Amino acid sequence: MKILGIETSCDETSIAVLDDKSVLVNLVSSQSIHHQYGGVVPEVASREHMRILENLVTEALVKSGINLTDIDGVAVTRGPGLMGALLVGLSFAKGLAYATGKTLLAVNHVEGHIMANFLDHPELEYPFLCLLVSGGHSQIIMVNDFHDYTILGRSIDDAAGEAFDKAARILNLGYPGGPIVDRLAQTGNPEFVHFPRANIKDNPMNFSFSGLKTALLYLVRQKGGDWAEKHKNDLCASFQEAIVEVLVKNVIETAVRRECRQLVLAGGVAANSRLRTRISEIALQYGISVYFPSLEYCTDNAAMIARTGRELFIRQLFSSSSISAVPNLTLENDF
Ligand SMILES: Nc1ncnc2c1ncn2[C@@H]1O[C@H](COP(=O)(O)OP(=O)(O)OP(=O)(O)O)[C@@H](O)[C@H]1O
Ligand SMILES: [Mg+2]
Repeated sequence: MKILGIETSCDETSIAVLDDKSVLVNLVSSQSIHHQYGGVVPEVASREHMRILENLVTEALVKSGINLTDIDGVAVTRGPGLMGALLVGLSFAKGLAYATGKTLLAVNHVEGHIMANFLDHPELEYPFLCLLVSGGHSQIIMVNDFHDYTILGRSIDDAAGEAFDKAARILNLGYPGGPIVDRLAQTGNPEFVHFPRANIKDNPMNFSFSGLKTALLYLVRQKGGDWAEKHKNDLCASFQEAIVEVLVKNVIETAVRRECRQLVLAGGVAANSRLRTRISEIALQYGISVYFPSLEYCTDNAAMIARTGRELFIRQLFSSSSISAVPNLTLENDF
């Protein structure tokens, strides 16, 4: 079975071709135009998707050696994401599916992040516990089966990726902040500043990162820009340590309490080197197996959308051409 994947939910235009469970090609075009604004400008993102989408599809087909007629289904992100950006991809996919008589498979982007794990770990079996950490989400999810999720905990304010991006903005490091903070932190001292770790009393599986960001902001205001610039590696390491410690603590405690032997990371922050190291070390102490996607499948990519589309196709969960984009789609309101 061959699936064409299309992802345009934010600032990455991505096209993939999947042949059964193998990724033949996964092209990701990141829109660097947003860097000058310090964040994603929605209208600009939509126009950039419009500009390159068709050429990227052609390039993906040529590189994979697959003809459009050989494709069984067109999988596309329908949400969550930026409305205009989603509409570009979804409208394109609808037109392509209609014109070629192929099956349309509308995919939940968050489910895509979770399914990315099956690209590298086909042996992974349900059920498992997932720590989903991305630009828009920080959730602890019990993945009972495909399409069957129980959300146990979530951030009550900023998502982990959002916190990394805001910290980078405070420190004038550029956008997206996560990879930059990760890199600078490698030569910094994680004990330079002890940033607050929030404990949410009514649900120990929830997270809160906004206080952490405010603590960094006030510290930089108090000490000044020159001081922050001089100590940026130590500040990145300390900030990262505070996020990673809370993420790892909450998810490991949940896994132990629920006697769950498999733990899976998903989303852009799953690329964080310190998170990958710490969660592996602690999980080992409890005899829990940890899985994470390879780096290219952590952040937004169409391979994970195609992989999810394959599961939808197998279950004959086809989409009609009247399906709409849903910017605030969640795992809970999807099915
Ligand atoms: N090495 C890293 N360390 C920490 N954060 C990272 C790293 N690499 C990427 N990120 C963060 O991951 C986020 C992007 O991830 P992703 O593409 O999954 O998010 P999104 O698609 O914007 O949000 P969502 O998937 O929730 O809709 C950004 O916030 C980025 O800073
Ligand atoms: Mg994403």
